[in-house]
Amino acid sequence: MNNSSGMWSSRLIFVLAAAGSAVGLGNIWRFPYVTGENGGGVFVIAYLLCIAVIGLPIMIAEIVLGRAGRSSPISSMQILARRSYANSGWQLIGWMGVIAGFMILSFYSVIAGWALAYLIKMMQGLFVEIDSVAAESLFENFIGSPQRLIFWHTAFMSLTIIITARGVGRGLEKAVKFLMPGLFFLLVLLVFWAAATSGHFLEGLDFMFSPKPEDFSGDSVFLAMGQAFFTLSLGMGAIMAYGAYLPQSSGIASSALTIGVLDTIVALLSGMIIFPIVFANQLEPSAGPGLMFVSLPLAFGNMLGGQIFGSLFFLLVTFAAITSAISISEPAIAWLSEKRRLSRAASAYLIGFLAWILGLGSALSFNIMNEFTLLPDKTFFDSMDFLSNNILLPFGGILISLFVGWRLDKEILSSQLSEVPSWLLKSLVFSLRFVAPGGIFLVIAMTFVS
Ligand code: PHE
Repeated sequence: MNNSSGMWSSRLIFVLAAAGSAVGLGNIWRFPYVTGENGGGVFVIAYLLCIAVIGLPIMIAEIVLGRAGRSSPISSMQILARRSYANSGWQLIGWMGVIAGFMILSFYSVIAGWALAYLIKMMQGLFVEIDSVAAESLFENFIGSPQRLIFWHTAFMSLTIIITARGVGRGLEKAVKFLMPGLFFLLVLLVFWAAATSGHFLEGLDFMFSPKPEDFSGDSVFLAMGQAFFTLSLGMGAIMAYGAYLPQSSGIASSALTIGVLDTIVALLSGMIIFPIVFANQLEPSAGPGLMFVSLPLAFGNMLGGQIFGSLFFLLVTFAAITSAISISEPAIAWLSEKRRLSRAASAYLIGFLAWILGLGSALSFNIMNEFTLLPDKTFFDSMDFLSNNILLPFGGILISLFVGWRLDKEILSSQLSEVPSWLLKSLVFSLRFVAPGGIFLVIAMTFVS
């Protein structure tokens, strides 16, 4: 993402790029389906709490680490541990991030490939006046075909790697400036459409926002926390890598708040679109990863101008996915290329190729490998998703908050956050020392005792 000087041209560009990283499939595809699988209200409230109490402090911490280290996450952690007289073992944060990044990129590309395929289907008018049964069977047939999933996975990964290989200069910066507002506009339009025509808007809202105590389980809170990390791109160094290119004068805390708020709005809007459609068409909220790929074609297929709006929508989803995928691969690519043994382009191709291979397992887990389980009861795709989002990211989050809260040199910390008033700095340190790591730990503990 760095231009030739290795620096974002302004704070706004950083916020846009980081928001581009945060806003992606996690908001539009994963948030609604995981909410649906976990009963709605309780999950959404736990998710919002995790964003505010755990996510925001950790986002600030990651940007601080990135900007203070000014290198790839692995090297930044080495440098900062040394400058803080801390154990060099803290670089584990960077290594875990690279591993998590591989796992995430591998399945992310498979699902983003679905969005790319749906863009073409939309343009072909395949969904015009479709009903729910046909929309479901179209999706089933699509994911049932290994060739097609591999084709689209390859297409998406190639697109991503071509961009990252070039180091993404101004081109992407400009594109993000136009496309993020475009996505936002279409989401709002769809919310109005869902409100006006589904007849089930309130039911959708009720599902999302009223907690039903019987749905409360340690598990769903645990999954809500994983979702919070995933959607904010935290715990694996993506935001740290982007922070490394942030000009010294830009405010970190306010940037983090903007990114977090934007990301949350996009997720909630997606739910407010998808659930009314789900209830209006007797679909199952717990249908799993296909939720968006059945409900949205139904909506577009039955609205005026749906072919155009639908195509635009999937184009923007694909774009949102690319801006996220780029950031997922950035920690590994930055690390490989800063050693100068490989060029930026060669590093990008290598990382992309390895993630592509791993992704084949996820692509096949929807068809010929659907009986195969890696973790108990979890397909290859489910296992990758679970291990990265629910284990590696929160664990990375604990380490990041402990390092910044307890070990990072106080001078470094306060010089990075020179713009924040001292009471805020104190509360940030308090939450990084106790609240965030304690919260993550508690949620994990709750899952294992329940
Ligand atoms: N936040 C991205 C999304 O919601 C995914 C992501 C995860 C990006 C981890 C970077 C790091 O789609």
